[in-house]
Amino acid sequence: MKDVNVGICGLGTVGGGTFNVLERNAKLIAGRAGCRIQVSRVASRRHRSDIQLGNIPFSTDIYDVVQDPDVDVVVELIGGYDAARELVLAAIAEGKHVVTANKAMIAVHGNEIFEAAKEKNVIVAYEAGVAGGIPIIKSIREGLAANRVNWLAGIINGTGNYILTEMRAGRDFEEVLKEAQDLGYAEADPTFDVEGVDAAHKLTIMASAAFGVPLQFERAYTEGIGSLTPYDISHAEALGYRVKHLGIARAREEGLELRVHPTLVPVNHMIAKVDGVLNAIVVDGDAVGQTMYTGPGAGDEATASAVIADIIDVARSVSCGSNQRVPYLGFDTDSIVDHQILPMDEIRSAYYLRIQAYDRPGVLAKVASILSEHGINIESIMQKESELHDGRIPVIILTHTVQERQINQAIAQMESLPDVEGKVVRIRAENFV
Ligand code: HSE
Repeated sequence: MKDVNVGICGLGTVGGGTFNVLERNAKLIAGRAGCRIQVSRVASRRHRSDIQLGNIPFSTDIYDVVQDPDVDVVVELIGGYDAARELVLAAIAEGKHVVTANKAMIAVHGNEIFEAAKEKNVIVAYEAGVAGGIPIIKSIREGLAANRVNWLAGIINGTGNYILTEMRAGRDFEEVLKEAQDLGYAEADPTFDVEGVDAAHKLTIMASAAFGVPLQFERAYTEGIGSLTPYDISHAEALGYRVKHLGIARAREEGLELRVHPTLVPVNHMIAKVDGVLNAIVVDGDAVGQTMYTGPGAGDEATASAVIADIIDVARSVSCGSNQRVPYLGFDTDSIVDHQILPMDEIRSAYYLRIQAYDRPGVLAKVASILSEHGINIESIMQKESELHDGRIPVIILTHTVQERQINQAIAQMESLPDVEGKVVRIRAENFV
């Protein structure tokens, strides 16, 4: 059985973790892979003095890895969209297998990359791109392969979850974000975490593997956590809900919902209890029901755990000579169907609304009548006398599930009432039934 040679491109947080774990657990990993896995070349823009490369050749040109005839597997850990795409396509053209942690590249260029890989009969593995150390791609593509997936919903950005958790304890947004960056959780551009782009990358990938649709990142609705206030977070709690930043994909007859946004979830649902940098994905399958996968969604060795699992998969295939054990998106290419991604107006959700109203007789009746006009049923309503300031008082309403178009129309009508001040705050809510 031949050794498998790995070339690592990128020695940042995940690259360093991968190198260290491969070295520390070399014997155990060899036992699992059925062959020795050796790092035979490393390339990175910067050398890291804290990583002992020994005799392993190091260069600053990542293409040295791709062009090295001894490298069997290129591990792409440079991140970003275009440079990574070019590197991976070059590796595929050289007939090399690829392991990547790059969700941005897969979500945006994955269709092209998988096509190229299929032609060259090489593996492109991307477990580490989604939810850090959680083997969610393996779970969807293999463990749940018998199921028609109804929906999946996940906390898929560790930085965002860390920030929301700390905000619940009253801490300041900027301070917590800085802490997440120092811990190596955040993206190179932390706006990707805060604005939901990173979560949308991951949701796009999971949805394709779960529903057998092409990758369609550009059609995912993306809303971040930047406008959430401690006020709404604590009032949601008073109603029995916790605010989580979720990626949700749901199959409906009309098409597929694909959306990332802050969401109220029932406090007693298992996903509400997932705090800090932890990620969690709930998958609802027709045979199995709801299953949840949780664990560290970011961090050096946690993500390395997924990178190395993919390297081991590749090594098993290389050494036993059967490439591509599992199709790239878990479906045979001929079975991938281009379902319509629904516009946000057509998604269905429950809603938390906060209306800043003047404290006058009849205001509640007007708000309730607008909701009723649009066929929106109220689940709970809350108004506290203690929150009356300058003649204005917040009215908080939780609705039953409706179409987003209905709530948008109702909100527009409420905002035009002389009794309502400013914009109505709206956060989507899910009961997971
Ligand atoms: N920035 C990402 C996160 C890293 O916070 O989840 C893992 O993809």
